[in-house]
Amino acid sequence: MTIEDIKKLEAEIRALDCKSAKEVEDARIRFLGKKGSVTALFDEFRTVDKEAKKEFGRPLNELKQLAGQRIEELKEKVGDQGANSSSKEDLSMPGEPLPLGSRHPVSIVREQIVGIFRKFGYDVAEGPEIEDDYHVFEALNFPPNHPARDMQDTFFVSAGHLNPLLLRTHTSSVQVRAMEKMDLPIRVICPGRVFRNEAISARAHCIFHQVEGLYIDEGVTFADLKQAILLFAREMFGPETEIRMRPSFFPFTEPSAEVDVSCNICHGKGCNICKGTGWLEILGCGMVDPNVLEASGIDSRKYSGFAFGMGLERIAMLKWRVNDLRHYFENDMRFLQEFDSAVEV
Ligand code: PHE
Repeated sequence: MTIEDIKKLEAEIRALDCKSAKEVEDARIRFLGKKGSVTALFDEFRTVDKEAKKEFGRPLNELKQLAGQRIEELKEKVGDQGANSSSKEDLSMPGEPLPLGSRHPVSIVREQIVGIFRKFGYDVAEGPEIEDDYHVFEALNFPPNHPARDMQDTFFVSAGHLNPLLLRTHTSSVQVRAMEKMDLPIRVICPGRVFRNEAISARAHCIFHQVEGLYIDEGVTFADLKQAILLFAREMFGPETEIRMRPSFFPFTEPSAEVDVSCNICHGKGCNICKGTGWLEILGCGMVDPNVLEASGIDSRKYSGFAFGMGLERIAMLKWRVNDLRHYFENDMRFLQEFDSAVEV
């Protein structure tokens, strides 16, 4: 080793220039890598005698420092240039798309139903999910301890006293609140979540959604009810749709009926969705019982009205032929993503 060897390398390092990160890395390896020329001098240094060590120690260390510094400088230089000129980043590339959620099938059906009744002039009302016994049962003509309460198996939040709190079993409670608050005539629909103590299966769930409706004015008749339901069914299921009404019972309506729509899959011929009957049950309805009007302070000799209620999961099932109610609550993305694109709004 001579001092000239060191000087020569020093000059080389000072003159070093690079145009890309790759060139800088190559230079680093050439000088400072395991087999690099600076490293080689250090290896040789280990074998020289004491005198020589004294002579070369310092210039060698300075050389190494210089090489390190120069590499860092060059890295910085090509780094800046790289951002401006290298083809690594394409600023015209479109951004990464944000995954968008899709609407839940029950929401889609709710929006459709609400949209149809809004067109008919109905307002939308909402109310609490934790209700009192009075608004869910008492004001709707369910006497205390009456077996009709068994039609809607109830989750009680607080039991025992006169007017216990419970999870509403239908949104008819919102209609009671509407009758208490709103001026007559009343035209209102009440969408919302309801709760019943049912064993969970393909056909039943303890949570589901309803849209209920109420119309109260002077001289409202069963013919008005039938016409409203027919118009709704045709908007919802298509202009060819027919309805039929079967007598039924609800404590808050008299007379009461259940409504079927003609099966829009087989058009009345009979298929496995309508179980060969050609008809699909979609809602319950009836003329508001005078006791219900009176309980909310409405004069039943002057006013009459009709009410109806339907389950949204059931309508969504008919619409999209979903065969298991539990899909609606399990948040399986493969199921949920199927719907938004299928909507015709
Ligand atoms: N509240 C009833 C139910 O949940 C449905 C209904 C509403 C029936 C209005 C008649 C009139 O089962």
